[in-house]
Amino acid sequence: MFLLMYPTRIIFGRGVIKELGKELSSLGKKALLVTGRSSMRKTGILDRVTGVIKQEGISLDLFDRVEHDPCLETVNQGIKIARIKKTDVVIGLGGGSAMDAAKAIASLARQSGTIWEYYAGRKIEKEGLPFVAIPTTAGTGAEITNNSVLTDRKVSLKKSIRSPYMIARVALVDPELTLFLPSQVTAYTGMDAFTQALESYVTRTSNPITDTLALQAIEIIFQNLPQAVANGKDAEIREKMALGSLLSAMAFSNSGLGAVHGLAHPIGARFGVPHGLACAILLPHVLGFNLISRPEKFTQIAKKIGVKRVEDLPNAIERFLERIGLPLNFRPYGITEAHFPSIIAESRSSSMSKNPREASDEDLREILKWTI
Ligand SMILES: [Fe+2]
Repeated sequence: MFLLMYPTRIIFGRGVIKELGKELSSLGKKALLVTGRSSMRKTGILDRVTGVIKQEGISLDLFDRVEHDPCLETVNQGIKIARIKKTDVVIGLGGGSAMDAAKAIASLARQSGTIWEYYAGRKIEKEGLPFVAIPTTAGTGAEITNNSVLTDRKVSLKKSIRSPYMIARVALVDPELTLFLPSQVTAYTGMDAFTQALESYVTRTSNPITDTLALQAIEIIFQNLPQAVANGKDAEIREKMALGSLLSAMAFSNSGLGAVHGLAHPIGARFGVPHGLACAILLPHVLGFNLISRPEKFTQIAKKIGVKRVEDLPNAIERFLERIGLPLNFRPYGITEAHFPSIIAESRSSSMSKNPREASDEDLREILKWTI
């Protein structure tokens, strides 16, 4: 028995951003656009998006204060604006950070409690404002997931608020919006998508449908990420990466993840390591630990990426990271063995519980040793 949920209306393809006005018009007359501080403006994407919205006669407010790994205060500010401006529909434009902040603003603007209460575990009781997601990276999958990853800076904690009411009404996945991504961000976000697909495929709660999606995503991302990093202006490659990322998101949003994501969150929150980079560095070592748990599935992964012997998979992933210019350890971030107990204590999330092989604290310590 398995359950699949794809409630988001997904519109995919080069140039589909022009559909935004039409999509919004059925959702309301007053939109709040939530995005980061500068890159959308610099690349001209913000002008393009606001132009499409205004053409449809929809009034627009802008909240462009979302930082990397958005914190609770930022979301709270956005909620206040949505309430004061009487927003009908919230748009999240950007990478995972902007979309997660927008998602939380949309879902909480109509609730009675504070962001701090929902972060502490209070359930979202009713539907929020409709949320439209427009990803500009090929990575996080936040455009179709039911959670918003937020950071409490006071205690360096990074975790999700999760609710079916958080799922986007519409996702506009336009690969043209990723043409401006710098190569390093392309590598980070691409490795997030790759790791999500790989963890989805071997997780305890995978099913035949998510397996099909995940395996296809693994192959597409492995084949195209190096070129996307080397030549970001190649629209065809960007389209393939956007498709790989969407397939990965469709897989893990229904299957769950594993130990890489369990460990990546505390490492991101405590040491400021970008999420995709944290996933990339952890992946070969978690993979090496997991190999014996589902040999038949790891054999399939090896086949998809052209590795003959399954035991060579971790090494092949490290060579792949070198090809796309990523480091193999966290040395620049100052992580030491003294930090391991707190990282391990905070890694026991729902992702960790779905890892295909049970990992004791000692096992996680051994994995982390390889990364410093
Ligand atoms: Fe991720």
